[in-house]
Amino acid sequence: MYELLKTDGLAKRGRLHTVHGVIETPVFMNVGTIAAIKGAVSTTDLQEIGTQVELSNTYHLHVRPGDEVVKKLGGLHKFMVWDKPILTDSGGFQVFSLAGLRRIKEEGVYFNSHIDGRKIFMGPEQSMQIQSNLASTIAMAFDECPSSVADRDYMENSVNRTTRWLKRCKAEMDRLNSLPDTINKHQMLFGINQGGVYEDIRVRHAQEISELDLDGYAVGGLAVGESHEEMYRILDAVVPHLPQNKPTYLMGVGTPANILEAVERGVDFFDCVYPSRNGRHGHVYTNHGKMNLFNAKYELDTRPIEEGCNCPVCRTYSRAYVRHLLKAKEMLGMRFCVLHNLYFYNKMMEEIREAIEAGRYKEYKEEKLRRMAEGE
Ligand code: GUN
Ligand code: ZN
Repeated sequence: MYELLKTDGLAKRGRLHTVHGVIETPVFMNVGTIAAIKGAVSTTDLQEIGTQVELSNTYHLHVRPGDEVVKKLGGLHKFMVWDKPILTDSGGFQVFSLAGLRRIKEEGVYFNSHIDGRKIFMGPEQSMQIQSNLASTIAMAFDECPSSVADRDYMENSVNRTTRWLKRCKAEMDRLNSLPDTINKHQMLFGINQGGVYEDIRVRHAQEISELDLDGYAVGGLAVGESHEEMYRILDAVVPHLPQNKPTYLMGVGTPANILEAVERGVDFFDCVYPSRNGRHGHVYTNHGKMNLFNAKYELDTRPIEEGCNCPVCRTYSRAYVRHLLKAKEMLGMRFCVLHNLYFYNKMMEEIREAIEAGRYKEYKEEKLRRMAEGE
């Protein structure tokens, strides 16, 4: 159940009640595709850096270790030792971004595993069954994420099929949630809006899926090569057609600036690999912009990555030390940068929630963007 606590313009401050506890929104979900946050970050670390939701992937976990294995071990929560909410992406997107050859049919997608080339079929029912075996808190609908340059004709057909797939996902999830040996009988389902850069297709699709009374609604198929302005234009058009009394999730986005802009347009769930990927490359986020810790100017710098940051790394270690670890290719260097970056994102979401509650979101956003653009 989603509670809309406060609005400030279009920005929403909400609370999603789940069987694994409450999610305060807006929220940034921390990405652990294969049930591991890249950069040697454990679920104990996640507790410490303020993570609310962990995100994993249906397709990857189906291929390895196998969702049947995870089910036998009691589900993903028990397996990775994380008792807070987990969202699983449906596999739709990964099939399209990872698989080489693939054939899309009405029943689903035929493709080859990116690990061993083995033939795999995944359709709405398979995706729901895998996600039910994983027993995540929130399952995503199985969708097609068409290429951003797909023509109108292709997009129309694809979006219509995604709607038919969504209805099959809903029916299958209802069935699975009523079975006696299902681990999480209260699994939630979020639908996904598609339509590329065609506003009218997006809006019609948003209206259609809004009628299905799902637990939440995602906007997919963005941040796939279009400009930021184009992404904001789509959000301006689509978000008002999604139910306000349900969470809105912008998939795979993005930079701190992207998140700040999308929150202003009514989005309240986010996920992105940037903080962990950039951290692994020694790029860290601060309130004064991004820093590259490989830079020679940090060689003798005894300050923490960001002064005033309360993350486990900044409370203890210097820039000089983290830089040394990175230069020496010690795993600890990457790990420290990822921890700081995830903390930075989680902390920004907390500030966002406070700003909406105080009715000063726009001022907060502008100040934050101005400071981040300033540089060191
Ligand atoms: N992650 C980022 N974009 C998408 C999308 O369009 N669909 C799905 N399922 N996952 C995504
Ligand atoms: Zn820090």
